Amino acid sequence: MVTIDRAVRALQAGELVAFPTETVYGLGANAANKEAIARIFALKGRPADHPLIVHLAGPEQLQHWVAEIPPIAAKLAARFWPGPLTLILPKAAQVNTLVTGGQDSIGVRIPAHPIAQQLLGAFGGAIAAPSANRYGRLSPTRAEHVREEFGDAVKTILDGGDSPIGIESTIVACLGNVARLLRPGFITRTQIEQTVGVVLDRGAEAPRAPGDRRQHYAPFTPLALVAGTQLEARIDEHCRRNEKVAVLAMRAASQARSQVTWVDAGKAPAAYAHQLYGRLRTLDQLGCVRILVEAPPILEDWNAVLDRLQRASAAGPPGRVDSG
Ligand code: TXA
Ligand code: MG
Repeated sequence: MVTIDRAVRALQAGELVAFPTETVYGLGANAANKEAIARIFALKGRPADHPLIVHLAGPEQLQHWVAEIPPIAAKLAARFWPGPLTLILPKAAQVNTLVTGGQDSIGVRIPAHPIAQQLLGAFGGAIAAPSANRYGRLSPTRAEHVREEFGDAVKTILDGGDSPIGIESTIVACLGNVARLLRPGFITRTQIEQTVGVVLDRGAEAPRAPGDRRQHYAPFTPLALVAGTQLEARIDEHCRRNEKVAVLAMRAASQARSQVTWVDAGKAPAAYAHQLYGRLRTLDQLGCVRILVEAPPILEDWNAVLDRLQRASAAGPPGRVDSG
């Protein structure tokens, strides 16, 4: 088993360390080491202009990484840190733009997961970490998912079991003391509004936000989001063609059919999110022609799940050209 000590030594040596957070597993490197940062981009196959999130042990480290903490950011930090929230703030002058994808803003997060906290505390510095998956693929929520993604290329993996939340952090840009929701997550827009008042959508002028291509968080098997009322008809089409199909539904199957693998993911958004990526990984390995996902309701509690499903679906969300 990999210990915190060993992980700290790996970070000090410029190596990559995968570690659990409450959202998903991160692929971490010493945020102050350019070569180590470059290794993250190379291994993930991530474009250089796609910024990383810098993880900190506590707010006292912020001043080294950010130029300024606007009042709304201070409020959000006080309410939600440590936790599943990433804030985009003006970067400090000395921060290398390799980490920020060339931007003058920086994404920072203080994670709550005890292993992430132990690692950050023992290391003493900041850890830059994207989700520990190859670019565009499903985020990992277990140590074995990280192994599936990278094999021997990542030797140091801290195993913390299942990530409790299961989808990536909520991202809020706080530039100019204006809050913009760049990526929905477990912390909802309403919670952010309650803390800072007005929350804008990511506008055209917002910083490069999660992703720059349509399909993201995606399994290899084509995924289609289907209205609950259309689900049976879509399954029938595949069955008539004698095709294997996977179904991620919010209810039990009305009949058992040999070509159909049916998963009842339930109607509770937190439990659904917690298991979403693990389930999609499992369904992705069945050799089905398609994963049909019953579209969740258009309700705030489902926003983050819906966002990830839209990005994972082959078509992507209507009118949207980028993704996480
Ligand atoms: O829950 C999470 O946020 C996980 C865990 C490991 O912390 N990390 C994660 O990282 O999801 P990643 O790299 O997969 O997604 C981070 C997103 C990227 O899409 C990136 O575009 C956005 O954060 N981001 C980072 N810095 C930014 C910045 N300065 N401006 C705009 N977006 C930024
Ligand atoms: Mg990611």
